[in-house]
Amino acid sequence: MNAPPNVVDATNSPIVAAYVARTPRSAQAYEAARRLLPGGVTHDVRYIRPHPIYVEHAGGARKRDIDGHEYVDYQGGHGALILGHAHPEVVAKVAEQLARGTHYGANHELETRWAGLICDMVPSAELVRFTSSGTEATMMALRLSRAATGRQLFLRFRGHFHGWHDHVAFGVVNHFDGTPTPGVIPELAENVVLVTPNDVDGLRAAFAEHGHAIAAAIIEPTGSNYGQVPLADDFIRVLREETKRHGAVLIFDEVVTGFRVSRGGAQAALGITPDLTTLAKIMAGGLPGGAVAGRRDLLELLDPERAEARGIEKIGHQGTYNANPLSATAGIATLELIRDTDALERTHAYAARLREGARQVLVEEGVAWGAYGTHTGLHLFVNPNGLAIDPASFDPMAVGFAGLKIPRGNQVGLKLRLAMRVNGVDLAAWPGGPCSAAHDETDLDRTLTALRGSIRMLREEREIA
Ligand SMILES: Cc1ncc(COP(=O)(O)O)c(C=O)c1O
Repeated sequence: MNAPPNVVDATNSPIVAAYVARTPRSAQAYEAARRLLPGGVTHDVRYIRPHPIYVEHAGGARKRDIDGHEYVDYQGGHGALILGHAHPEVVAKVAEQLARGTHYGANHELETRWAGLICDMVPSAELVRFTSSGTEATMMALRLSRAATGRQLFLRFRGHFHGWHDHVAFGVVNHFDGTPTPGVIPELAENVVLVTPNDVDGLRAAFAEHGHAIAAAIIEPTGSNYGQVPLADDFIRVLREETKRHGAVLIFDEVVTGFRVSRGGAQAALGITPDLTTLAKIMAGGLPGGAVAGRRDLLELLDPERAEARGIEKIGHQGTYNANPLSATAGIATLELIRDTDALERTHAYAARLREGARQVLVEEGVAWGAYGTHTGLHLFVNPNGLAIDPASFDPMAVGFAGLKIPRGNQVGLKLRLAMRVNGVDLAAWPGGPCSAAHDETDLDRTLTALRGSIRMLREEREIA
């Protein structure tokens, strides 16, 4: 069964009442959208009832809705905007490029410069093939792996998100038993081996049983969802060993972690080099774009001459918007700023202060939740199962995969997000948020004040003890 959708129970809820009262234009916009868009949204994560907010402007760490309210933003363009919204340098370069043309239907030098930056920064990147999204990048990485190994099985981890294509559409928010979600053919699901994160024995057993047939293993290298369920470093080391021993391709899905955990992504920080890396989000500077990068011999399956020289059939790959000049321009500008400035260090430092501040608020307010995360992220564990938690010493590793995932439809998590919006902060759905280099001390104060206020609102309506 699917978990209940993100519908907030409005019965006797001053939080919902306050949210509805201050967002009448968003409510109206949502009603209009529902007549034309399924569920009124264009991305599942934006679905929340009574209605989402409609945004008309964003700059730096802030955005403004159509009712005129400003929010400290922790959506960060679903993680694409580590420099904040509308970074002046990125905007200027994209505007210049816009005037020079948006699509040449031809090669351009920007794509080579863009690939050069990726190869310089990401340890595993020897060659790059651009796509239009992260979903397409993981799809291509899997196809490359299957073609290179001549094998069919594909190993991945419960809760790890790799986009929405058929191979990765189950075992993420539900169907943890590996059965296909509607529309996915059973034969495809049967070719996926699902392993629980941090279960070293389960991982070794999966390779012992299927190793000879596994084409690739794919993983979010800091754990699912920006590290919501963190991974032990040793677990990834075992995965590297097992893939090597069994001749399977190791794919790091760095769509989120690329250019975020470090300039070279999670792989540089971990000191573990995968065979293929999938990238998107930050890589394209807030415009649509993705890439597969990695071992030359694997990417060469896309090269007509090299494939022929190796006596293998080339893999087909098209895509109208692959490496389009606008995305390439935004990507180059963003990656150069990350490479040449302290944007990343500032973002990490802000996120650490935010986590510490949030922890302090939980302690002072006496709430049995956890505030945690690594690199640029904050995660708020709202403790759906009422565990005995001391927020001062909360350790997500002790809770584990099954406990850390906040079920969709969890009223405390949903009401927290609405209350935070009432208090001027837009959290990502986890709940939590990726931080950006644009967040500053004023944003920090505002966020922590909003968190305290939201906790008190939740307590007043008896959602928390
Ligand atoms: C780890 C990871 N992989 C892949 C994707 C899919 O990327 P896109 O939304 O660009 O298709 C996402 C998107 O959030 C992601 O977080």
